[in-house]
Amino acid sequence: DTDTSCILVIFGGTGDLTHRKLMPALYNLQCTQKLPGNFAVVAIGRREKSNEDYRYEVYNSIKNFARFDMHAKVWQNLQQKIYYQRFNFTDDSGYIGLADFLQRLDERYQTRGNRIFYLAVAPEYFGVIVEKLQAHGMVRNKTSWQRAMIEKPFGRDLSSARQLNKKITGVFAEKNTYRIDHYLGKEMLQNIMVIRFANMFLEPIWNNQFIDNIQITSCEMVGVENRGSYYEQAGALLDMVQNHMLQLLTLTAMEPPASLNTEAIRNEKVKVLSTLQEFTPDLVQKNVVRGQYGSGTAQGKPVPGYRQEELVPPGSNTETFVAIKVNIENFRWAGVPFYIRTGKRMPFKATQIIVQFKSLPPILYARLNGQLHSNLLVIKIQPQEGVFFQFNAKKPGAQSQIVPVQMDFCQNCPDELNSPEAYERLLFDALRGDSTLFTRWDEVEHSWRFVDTIAATWRQYTPDFPNYPAGHRGPRAAEELISRDGREWLHIGKQQRYV
Ligand code: BG6
Repeated sequence: DTDTSCILVIFGGTGDLTHRKLMPALYNLQCTQKLPGNFAVVAIGRREKSNEDYRYEVYNSIKNFARFDMHAKVWQNLQQKIYYQRFNFTDDSGYIGLADFLQRLDERYQTRGNRIFYLAVAPEYFGVIVEKLQAHGMVRNKTSWQRAMIEKPFGRDLSSARQLNKKITGVFAEKNTYRIDHYLGKEMLQNIMVIRFANMFLEPIWNNQFIDNIQITSCEMVGVENRGSYYEQAGALLDMVQNHMLQLLTLTAMEPPASLNTEAIRNEKVKVLSTLQEFTPDLVQKNVVRGQYGSGTAQGKPVPGYRQEELVPPGSNTETFVAIKVNIENFRWAGVPFYIRTGKRMPFKATQIIVQFKSLPPILYARLNGQLHSNLLVIKIQPQEGVFFQFNAKKPGAQSQIVPVQMDFCQNCPDELNSPEAYERLLFDALRGDSTLFTRWDEVEHSWRFVDTIAATWRQYTPDFPNYPAGHRGPRAAEELISRDGREWLHIGKQQRYV
């Protein structure tokens, strides 16, 4: 499987994801010369359009969303390999035509029967597409490789995820199934392991002897935008916690893997998920908070509440905010709460992992105790990427005064634009057959088990929504969740202060 020559077939070629993420990612890869020499792209959609029309639309998307400027020569090289095919995903004749078309492209581009089938479609089509690909002989050819890249959501609960997985792995082997969690493609997620396991000053203290609590926050300022109908099925729990937040948590908490190979890393991640404290309905009531934004403000402008958004029913009980306190029941983490928080229409945009260390005994500086701050180590995922460290130091002058000072490493300053995009990395890895940054089935299974208990408990109660105005830090109960433990939510703002 070392031959990277292939055709990338995108189901959902006219969709938002393809235009905003996939095509710009391909262009970025073309700019950095990371696309295979023998390569073509076939986008499939249900609308009628010519290759020329499609390429023109893609051109505009790249102009808007790629991280590199449009260069005529690079675009020229890429665009001549992009094709558009129209058919209905349930329609056999479309697949017959596709098989034939791909074979013709193989001759032209020397792509040797290798394929990546990217399913950028609504999840109800995942099953039918893989079945038809198999029925029409496009998978499991002996002399070539075929991989499937599958977008989220991978099921809507454990049992539907199992069914879906059965269908997919009945066609594509597990090693050829690339389940996407695009957070894994982000630079700083890949950096978590390096920061933890390549630094003597961190790894030995990364445990319950030294750490008081860990906060994992992913807040957005945007609302639900135009995705109301999808979001109504998901809510923040399925949209963010089941996948992205749990990935952040596992990378933060996992043991050092035996090696850097794909399965060794995935094994450690699964171990963390399998030691998450099991939620009972009582514990959900106590340690999980849900919220939904009402009308309020975003960047100084009035914005509607979630229930007034496009395609959202006026009585919707879908959550747009979740906060969870969870323990990991293993030797390293027993007694260290992990506080997870994610929401839309928050007052800031930031994804951060904040590690708050324990305090030293109040002996030497007992008199100045009020001035001592906890040491904080913050892994900043986005929009700023980097590592922030806060410690105590003497304030210059004859009077004894202690102040918190900060060291702040910023990886993508000043313009926050340089790093490769998540989808760029993920496509590149799928092309070279590296599935480390994709989720293995047992990870998915464990994460559904975790969120299913929460969702089941929620179904028994009607929430009192909306319970936070757009532009605020979430519902009051989320503050209480952490303040009752004598702690507060932290977030490192641009001015390097914790706020
Ligand atoms: C997606 C969710 O998976 O992640 C969105 O469906 C969310 O609701 C998005 O906005 C956040 O991704 P990022 O890369 O902007 O942090």
